[in-house]
Amino acid sequence: MKDIVSLCKRRGFIFQASEIYGGVNGFWDYGPLGVELKNNIRDLWWKTMVITPPIGPDGKPLQIVGLDTAIIQNPQLWKASGHIDGFSDPMLDCRETKLRYREDKLIALKPKDSQGHGFVFHEDAEQPDIESRLKKLAKGKSFIDFETVPLPNIDYSEYSNLVGPDTKTAGTLTEPKEFNLMLHTYLGAASGLENKAYLRPETCGSIFTNFKNVVDTSRVRIPFGIAQIGKSFRNEVTPRNFIFRSREFEQMEMQFFCDPKDDIKNWFDFWKETRKKWWLNIGLSENKLHFHAHSEEDLAHYAKNGVGAFDIEYQYPFIAPNFDELEGIHDRSQFDLTQHESLSGKKMQYQDLQTNEWFTPYVLETAAGLTRGVLAILCEAYTVDETRPSGMYMNFHPSVAPKKAAILPLVAKDGQPEVAQKLYMSMREHMNVDLDIKQNIGKRYARQDEIGTPFCVTIDPKTLEDQTVTIRERNTMAQERIHLDKVLEYIQQKIAS
Ligand code: GAP
Repeated sequence: MKDIVSLCKRRGFIFQASEIYGGVNGFWDYGPLGVELKNNIRDLWWKTMVITPPIGPDGKPLQIVGLDTAIIQNPQLWKASGHIDGFSDPMLDCRETKLRYREDKLIALKPKDSQGHGFVFHEDAEQPDIESRLKKLAKGKSFIDFETVPLPNIDYSEYSNLVGPDTKTAGTLTEPKEFNLMLHTYLGAASGLENKAYLRPETCGSIFTNFKNVVDTSRVRIPFGIAQIGKSFRNEVTPRNFIFRSREFEQMEMQFFCDPKDDIKNWFDFWKETRKKWWLNIGLSENKLHFHAHSEEDLAHYAKNGVGAFDIEYQYPFIAPNFDELEGIHDRSQFDLTQHESLSGKKMQYQDLQTNEWFTPYVLETAAGLTRGVLAILCEAYTVDETRPSGMYMNFHPSVAPKKAAILPLVAKDGQPEVAQKLYMSMREHMNVDLDIKQNIGKRYARQDEIGTPFCVTIDPKTLEDQTVTIRERNTMAQERIHLDKVLEYIQQKIAS
């Protein structure tokens, strides 16, 4: 993970936000290559979900339309969705260090012989760090003398005997309390409660409130989807693991509205498989993706009924061999539309044109993290290869690679730069392509390997004789000679495949 984070900074994928002032925890800036990678993933999602939506299980093309709504909405929206009252994590503080922790992310090591103190750790603490802390604080005991218990399973009356994660003293942890995860602001000049507004914690909230607008203004008929991509904000107490859990992030969400009498399970399975396939198509590998079913107690407040919730999980290096969430496929039943109808007093139902019957549609959602997708793609792409000068390369699928090709004259003389320039001018209209003329060719290949450019097109003396160039394929480093006129078509075909 350290190597990936350092490459991201060195090559301009991702920087810490406000780095020159020491950063701001949980916020990230995307650099010139990072924004290209993120936009490519975003555009491919939009294309496969909205422009050419998938073919449904019945062989008919689905209808999905897009929206782009405001980040700040009337707070009533978040009242109805349950976020004002229910979107919280149990948190506890350390009275000594003033640090705050999520209860469900902590584990306690309790002495098996009930003698002496127990010790609290983050759930992802590494074994050597646990051992070294126990060595210092546990008076001759080691890991095997303790049993591991999730902190939520420990009663507060036992806290006096627990040493918190960042202290040496027992009894400094406070009782867990619910802490709302929504970031808020005040609109206008006054800062009273009536001016309080929330930064959306998920993009789908305003999809529900626009449901009637979409039905009344476009020609969609149930079943259909509404999709949106955009920023969401959560006041995560422990933003962690680079861009994995941040306070500002992007989501790509789709709410699929169907008839409650439809075979919901069939649609749910369809979306699970369709979404997993999409991640495979843009470069994640099958053995690093799996489904995880939410247990009854893990279900979000809106997913308590119906066929449940599944996460598509990825094996991020910071958690391997375990997996963590990339996208959620949730059954939201009729929860949100019913809630909005009762709080707004506006009818949120749909009329069947054939039967004239009104009903509240049933909603399944696909909720993908765009920025988390960027992380998964970066992790997947990072490939160590000691045989090449860069020591590694980024194995991006050509469709998401920030730069599709680099045009490199072997030497900066003998008419080669002019040919390179001409090729560059003809290709730049069609794709993101680099023209790099100076430095020795090995260094230029190394740079392109590090940023994951799938193809390097080299102009050499032979090019001036017969109009052919070499195309070097990044992963195999194999070189192929083709005619200058064929370069664009060759690369376009590879991107599309
Ligand atoms: N509308 C449902 C919803 O928002 P979620 O499982 O809370 O569901 C969906 O979020 C996806 O958004 C997650 O699978 C993850 O990829 C991304 N996500 C959620 N919180 C995040 C955070 N703090 N930082 C980065 N990505 C996050």
